[in-house]
Amino acid sequence: MKFEEMAKMPLTSLPTSFYKMANLTEILGGPDIYIKRDDVMDLAHGGNKTRKLEYVFADALSKGADCVITMGGIQSNHVRQTISGAARLGLESHAILNIPVPEMKDALSMSGNYLMDVIMDGKIHIVDGSDDDCIAKMQSVKDDLIATGKTPYMVPMGASDGIGSLGYMACARELMIQWENAEVTPSHIFVGTGSCGTHGGLLAGLKYFGNKTTKVIGVSVSQIEERKVADVKDILKQINDVIELPDGLINDDDIIVKDSYYGKAYAYPTEEANEAVKLLAKTKGILLDPVYTGKCMAGMIDMIKKGDLDDARDIVFLHTGGAPALHPYAEYFL
Ligand SMILES: Cc1ncc(COP(=O)(O)O)c(C=O)c1O
Repeated sequence: MKFEEMAKMPLTSLPTSFYKMANLTEILGGPDIYIKRDDVMDLAHGGNKTRKLEYVFADALSKGADCVITMGGIQSNHVRQTISGAARLGLESHAILNIPVPEMKDALSMSGNYLMDVIMDGKIHIVDGSDDDCIAKMQSVKDDLIATGKTPYMVPMGASDGIGSLGYMACARELMIQWENAEVTPSHIFVGTGSCGTHGGLLAGLKYFGNKTTKVIGVSVSQIEERKVADVKDILKQINDVIELPDGLINDDDIIVKDSYYGKAYAYPTEEANEAVKLLAKTKGILLDPVYTGKCMAGMIDMIKKGDLDDARDIVFLHTGGAPALHPYAEYFL
């Protein structure tokens, strides 16, 4: 199949906005900084999963699904958007959740994304264990649903598979049109990278639609560089299984990951990320989050300060959403 032939279920109005952050550029004193507002979308507070879910839900419906099962951390933005999309399409949704920061269990289960998941009638299954335990639980929930006559569809963590990642190929095309209209040729675009579908899809899309200049910088929110590079490669392979990319489209050195900014582990706050959240809030009135976009912005700021981006022309920060997770992290801001 070609990218253009893939079915999509519209779940939000697009394009999202793209503009220059003049005062942040001035404060940081580096290259011109632009922002892409994928945090503003229609599915219950929006975020990057919505674009992926447009392709995932189209696939689910084409297979006759009447319910979806997914997984993530208890503060997952992906889970919130999946439950929102399912509710909008009249599908039952099941979420397998674990608790990545056990010290914050109470805060994480009283507010933020989790609260919204429950309000939107997601059926919640809490697992006291790892992501692998969640994957096993997804399978057992699937078996139970089939036994009751349902047709479940499995949405992988982060909707990061060959189908979901097409959402960020579409975003790459959207960005390229916006860049042309704004007469900018960005040298770098920054994205927080977790399950890597956003990073992989964006990279594939930029190359596929003919961009030869923009480097995708993935700021890891959870793992060392080698792991993330392997995960991005795996995503590219999965995309290739769905839409066959031209040979030699992406080289190994196109996959760039920075792993100095995630702190102790996934979802543990860092001082630098929290400072980045406050900086964007007070200079732009834009809310980032402590788990993903704050860490990505902290990485971008650090690289500007260290002079790593001195040769950069225009740089783009992809705001992937996540502000609902600010609520359980309130103690770091009040
Ligand atoms: C706000 C936010 N930013 C970035 C990411 C990372 O995206 P991906 O999992 O595609 O790497 C996520 C994933 O959940 C997210 O919620």
